[in-house]
Amino acid sequence: MFAVTNSIGMFGMNAFPVTVEAEVFKGHPQFDLSGLPDTGIKESRDRVRSAASSVGIQFPKGRILINLAPADVKKSGSAFDLAIFVCLMQAMDILSLRMPERIFIGELGLHGTVRGVRGIMTMTMLARKNGCREIYVPKENVREAAVIDNIQVYGIESVEELMLHLVGQQVLQPEPHYEPEFQQNNLDMMDFSDVRGQFKARSGMELAAAGGHNILLVGSPGSGKSMLVNRLPTILPKMTKEEILETSNIYSVAGLLSPERPLITQRPFRAPHHTISTAGLAGGGSIPAPGEISLAHNGVLFLDELAEFNRKTLEVLRQPLEARKVTISRAAGSAEYPCSFMLTAAMNPCPCGYRGSPLKKCTCTQKQINQYISRVSGPMLERFDLHIDVDPIRYDEFSAKEKPESSAVIRERVEAARERQAFRYKGLGFYNNASIPDKLIDKFCQLDAAAESMFGRMYEHYHMSARAGIRVKKTARSSADLHGREKIQCEDISAAVQFRGFESKYL
Ligand SMILES: Nc1ncnc2c1ncn2[C@@H]1O[C@H](COP(=O)(O)OP(=O)(O)O)[C@@H](O)[C@H]1O
Ligand SMILES: [Mg+2]
Ligand SMILES: [Zn+2]
Repeated sequence: MFAVTNSIGMFGMNAFPVTVEAEVFKGHPQFDLSGLPDTGIKESRDRVRSAASSVGIQFPKGRILINLAPADVKKSGSAFDLAIFVCLMQAMDILSLRMPERIFIGELGLHGTVRGVRGIMTMTMLARKNGCREIYVPKENVREAAVIDNIQVYGIESVEELMLHLVGQQVLQPEPHYEPEFQQNNLDMMDFSDVRGQFKARSGMELAAAGGHNILLVGSPGSGKSMLVNRLPTILPKMTKEEILETSNIYSVAGLLSPERPLITQRPFRAPHHTISTAGLAGGGSIPAPGEISLAHNGVLFLDELAEFNRKTLEVLRQPLEARKVTISRAAGSAEYPCSFMLTAAMNPCPCGYRGSPLKKCTCTQKQINQYISRVSGPMLERFDLHIDVDPIRYDEFSAKEKPESSAVIRERVEAARERQAFRYKGLGFYNNASIPDKLIDKFCQLDAAAESMFGRMYEHYHMSARAGIRVKKTARSSADLHGREKIQCEDISAAVQFRGFESKYL
């Protein structure tokens, strides 16, 4: 008998419908799978057989033919197991032939267990879009699916459970809709109230958080760069539901969600080591998987010891930084992943680390310093809106009794500034000052008369490039938003310019 069942395949972030067709013929016992399956799907034959015997069903004596359509799309992974199983049960007349508007996704384990797969959230979105009414997914992934509304989601633990449900003997309840809730990043108890002194660096961090700006921290070892950056997520605004879904989606495709962490409800903070490969950073693999820049989507990517990174590795960051998405091309096809993140980097000012430090004398020659700085290319350095010099704190600051301002208080100001931006940029496809497109700078970064003439003087004095000028205006916009000013004023310009020291000092 001929049977058809619906499933969904994934390539990168893209889900596509897959139809499983099964037919059982009389004749020599044989099991064939067609439709460009890779070895993973061939292995599914054995898994399906073992699942069937777990519910006491032997394969029919004749020839079994399974086809996955469309045939011309490369399919991979083990997520079709469950649909193949259901389709075969239909072809064998054990299950009803008519199961339209139902989709089955899952890998079969030994003894008929259903195991989790990647990309369930995206697949469920597609199922809903295509008007499907019920989706059956592995219990492990059920929460990912349950955030999508207007579709009934069933979490399945075993084929036995599924069979009893489908024949109406023990009907399962659909998973209740699940509303993700943002969690503040303070689980590891890090807070800005731990950071003594450092008033300028703290205000730089706040300014960067307010507008989503990329920042570079420069200072001698032990001056507190890592300490400051590690606390950045604690002053970033709450994730919206859309952001939670977008980021979770990437983690789902990467196979990084689990029943303990069904969704990403905290802003990501990714700090890859400087030995990371290009593929690890940008994404890669024969079936392109997301890299660190995409795992940092809607959060922070921290490159500590920036000068230690391979220059080629850093070069791959440039384009995705501007585009906020990355395309990875492989023989199997190309995949696109979003990667909108705050780039945060830290480095020493020179090889010995003590250039400009009051603590120790720098022992480097100018040539060594130039070499060190040039490891990070100029165009890379230009991607940072703010350069924050971090000086070691003095003893009186270190031993001061009063407690520094907490992250919660700073975050409140940041949230207010972000709300102004969200309102101003509504419907324009970007949401913070860091991402204002160049052609809209004049429209959204208006200076009052005094600020205009001050900006002109600063521009000349510091020999700014047009690009640097744009960065200053964006940062000044964030300063104005922190203070609730519609037009940029002189204070905002100087707040922004004080964080452009790196160029004049090192380039
Ligand atoms: N401003 C500060 N307030 C309190 N402790 C600090 C401060 N700066 C540095 N420290 C202490 O020094 C340690 C080293 O700082 P770290 O952030 O690792 O420096 P860097 O990354 O610049 O080398 C921190 O873990 C912290 O204990
Ligand atoms: Mg450090
Ligand atoms: Zn030095």
